[in-house]
Amino acid sequence: MKSETRFLRRYSGASGIQELMVDLDLALSGPRKMYMLGGGNPGRIPEMEAFFREQMERLMADEDRFERALGVYDHPGGNLRFRQAVAELLQQSGWDVKAENVALTQGSQNAFFLLMNLFGGVREDGGEAKIVFPLSPEYIGYEDVGIQKGTLKSFLPRIQMLDEGFFRYEIDFDRLVVDENTGAVCLSRPCNPTGNNVSNQQLEKLYEICRAADVPLILDAAYGLPFPGIVFDDSRPFFRPGVISILSLSKLGLPGLRTGIVVGPSDVIEKIERLNSIFNLSCGGIGPALALESIRSGQLLQKCHSILQPHYLANRNLAIEMLRNGLSSHGLKIHESGGAFFLWLWFDAPISTSRLYEKLKEAGVIVVPGKYYFPGLDDPFDHRDRCIRLSFSQNRENIEKGIAILIEIAKREIEAVS
Ligand SMILES: Cc1ncc(COP(=O)(O)O)c(C=O)c1O
Repeated sequence: MKSETRFLRRYSGASGIQELMVDLDLALSGPRKMYMLGGGNPGRIPEMEAFFREQMERLMADEDRFERALGVYDHPGGNLRFRQAVAELLQQSGWDVKAENVALTQGSQNAFFLLMNLFGGVREDGGEAKIVFPLSPEYIGYEDVGIQKGTLKSFLPRIQMLDEGFFRYEIDFDRLVVDENTGAVCLSRPCNPTGNNVSNQQLEKLYEICRAADVPLILDAAYGLPFPGIVFDDSRPFFRPGVISILSLSKLGLPGLRTGIVVGPSDVIEKIERLNSIFNLSCGGIGPALALESIRSGQLLQKCHSILQPHYLANRNLAIEMLRNGLSSHGLKIHESGGAFFLWLWFDAPISTSRLYEKLKEAGVIVVPGKYYFPGLDDPFDHRDRCIRLSFSQNRENIEKGIAILIEIAKREIEAVS
């Protein structure tokens, strides 16, 4: 029998992100009514949907732009006018970038696949370059992106307890190792799954460590500033020479467009462009065509401020209030929420959140068990099976009903082990 290829072997097993996407599809499109507190799907916000419909109508009314978006392959680095518009928007926030510093990808997930294999994996000299995640837990979607298994290396956080049942993870600089075996350092900010906005001070320190080791710092801003801007504190975007920032149109409410945006040094952008032409020829044209005018006019940012951010802030406050009222007396701790549309819940009691997830699913509520959010972490850490990630992206009724069931079932599980 012929032996299978390494690529096939690498990708034939179970993958957390695939299970999550299947659950998401089941909850949003399956026959049974489920309360969706899982997945990374943005909410359907009527005002945003109306805005995007209007943008689409304008595009279709144009003599030529719609036909070009459908009928012409864009430049392999992404539509040039769109890249120019993104660069100009970022310049307004003080970023020293031009169109040559911007490339598009088929969703930002695709950018992570490209970047993590450009910077991580087996080197020419036989050594291995690791992608370092300084702050675990991290985004589930990074888990299997390294073609070379074992490319990711995560570090345990320091835990800071806050008032009123909140806590936060901090980078533990005493533990962190960034050295000649590091290919790149990466973190999501705001973080999926915790909502953590790593402070500018910690980021500055991390950046200096990366500079000293001549290693790029990759910042995943899928939820961050300038768009979609789902940020609830006063943190600022972070851009310095050598930093690679990843943006996306998805969390604006446009995940179907699959438009990711890489901003970074021009030599990195050239590599993305080359890989795009090999893997995709070019990226889909509809995302850039739909968003171009509103990025140029500033209308998109304005909608983020006036509709998107307030929507998620109100949902977050509702979810926190319900959870604190329902479960503080049962030892629930909530990670401080600085952005994105997730809450990271940590149960004091020795329950299994994998079991809690199954119980909730039976009762029609989807959350994500914490165990998936530790890509590249080898150390033991009891948060793996004591935490869940809850999404508050969907509508109020979904949050109210879903969390009410969650509180009831979590109480039962906790009381059973106390
Ligand atoms: C932190 C983070 N990064 C990247 C992505 C990828 O998003 P997309 O490929 O839709 O741009 C997601 C999606 O959920 C995410 O949560």
